[in-house]
Amino acid sequence: MRLTKRIAILGSTGSIGQNALKVLAALGDGYRLQSLAAGKDIRALLKQIRRFRPKRVALFDPGAAKKLCARMPRARPQILTGLDGLCELARDPEADLIVLSLVGAVGLAPLLAALRAGKTVALANKEPMVMAGELLMEEAHRHGAQILPVDSEPSAIFQCLPPHCVARGSASQTIEKILLTASGGPFLRSNGSLKHISVKQALRHPNWKMGPKITIDSATLMNKGFEAIEIKNLFRLRMEQIEVLIHPQSILHSAVEFRDGSILAQMSRPDMRLPIQYALTFPERATLRTVAPVNLASLRNLEFDRPDLGQFPCLKLALAAGRRGGVYPAALSAADEVAVSSFLNAGLRFTDIHRVVAETLSDLERMKGVARSHPSLEDLVEMDQWARQKAEEKVRKLV
Ligand SMILES: NC(=O)c1ccc[n+]([C@@H]2O[C@H](COP(=O)([O-])OP(=O)(O)OC[C@H]3O[C@@H](n4cnc5c(N)ncnc54)[C@H](OP(=O)(O)O)[C@@H]3O)[C@@H](O)[C@H]2O)c1
Repeated sequence: MRLTKRIAILGSTGSIGQNALKVLAALGDGYRLQSLAAGKDIRALLKQIRRFRPKRVALFDPGAAKKLCARMPRARPQILTGLDGLCELARDPEADLIVLSLVGAVGLAPLLAALRAGKTVALANKEPMVMAGELLMEEAHRHGAQILPVDSEPSAIFQCLPPHCVARGSASQTIEKILLTASGGPFLRSNGSLKHISVKQALRHPNWKMGPKITIDSATLMNKGFEAIEIKNLFRLRMEQIEVLIHPQSILHSAVEFRDGSILAQMSRPDMRLPIQYALTFPERATLRTVAPVNLASLRNLEFDRPDLGQFPCLKLALAAGRRGGVYPAALSAADEVAVSSFLNAGLRFTDIHRVVAETLSDLERMKGVARSHPSLEDLVEMDQWARQKAEEKVRKLV
């Protein structure tokens, strides 16, 4: 008899969270929603509670949690608040699979809580893997937990790799390199200055519909650098084994080149429901067709090109931080979070996103007495705080 998989979705009101609920509803029998968590969007959360009837709910913002309680006087799920509430759901003994689709470094503590409880985590929230991926993989190994990538490119690579390679962490012995594809975002073909790009223009991604932070990270290509670091950590590779390729059609979501010369790639329409479904149903591949397949005969051409690092300086910064390792990726991710939020909400120029991150990393370079390699988790959390503060100072001078 097949057991029901009980799912917790942390970040349920966002783009990935909503898609995860659509997939869950389509999968039907054999899957049940255990809990939901979000930041503060009680309107969206209320609708989800009424439709999916989770046992437990967490809201990061205590004020929003109070309002939610007031709006649901009877027959409501247990409501938790704050980071502790999110961590509680992440380690819930009644949840079999945790979908982590929060955005930013806030996901680190719930991810750690889930891994330490030996959970299987369907991971979309890439920032914690950028910040502390090596340590998180060690925690997963120590507690018998598993991370299933949801991000389309890491998922493509996961789907192309033999499972025993992933389980043993021995992918680097079989792989020559990873071909990590990037659409190039909305400004790939723009040859003028991007100084006066508006928020609206930057949010217009040609192929993907996503939350605001990742959409801006995709426009600067910082997102591709984050993915390179995420992939390095997930599959225990060297940064030198990861090659970024611009592929404007977003049909081939990444490929693995093996030592024997074979290349395996995963192809599908750009729709996050497919990698989410793969993670929810893993190790099975569901027969349910949520996304129509690509019609190869109708494709005119698939283009691949090397990125111009001069045009996309954020990608250059991220790849360099990934190669340096240690505390650098944590500083990179934290400074980017501040810079992107300031572009979206506080009038920072699009081109100053790079400037804020680059200057923060330069300050780190000059700082004395910092253990830059082999950091502990505490060192990384401290670095996150330090880089945020530095980046905020830089933003204040620019807006
Ligand atoms: N969207 C995609 O297609 C895609 C693809 C690949 C990877 N990813 C990665 O997946 C993650 C989520 O992306 P997204 O596009 O779904 O983001 P999003 O649409 O902005 O959604 C973010 C979710 O996180 C919640 N959240 C934000 N801050 C929180 C906090 N402090 N405490 C608790 N919850 C909080 C939000 O709740 P509220 O709504 O209440 O604020 C929302 O549910 C990101 O790391 C992104 O890089 C996304």
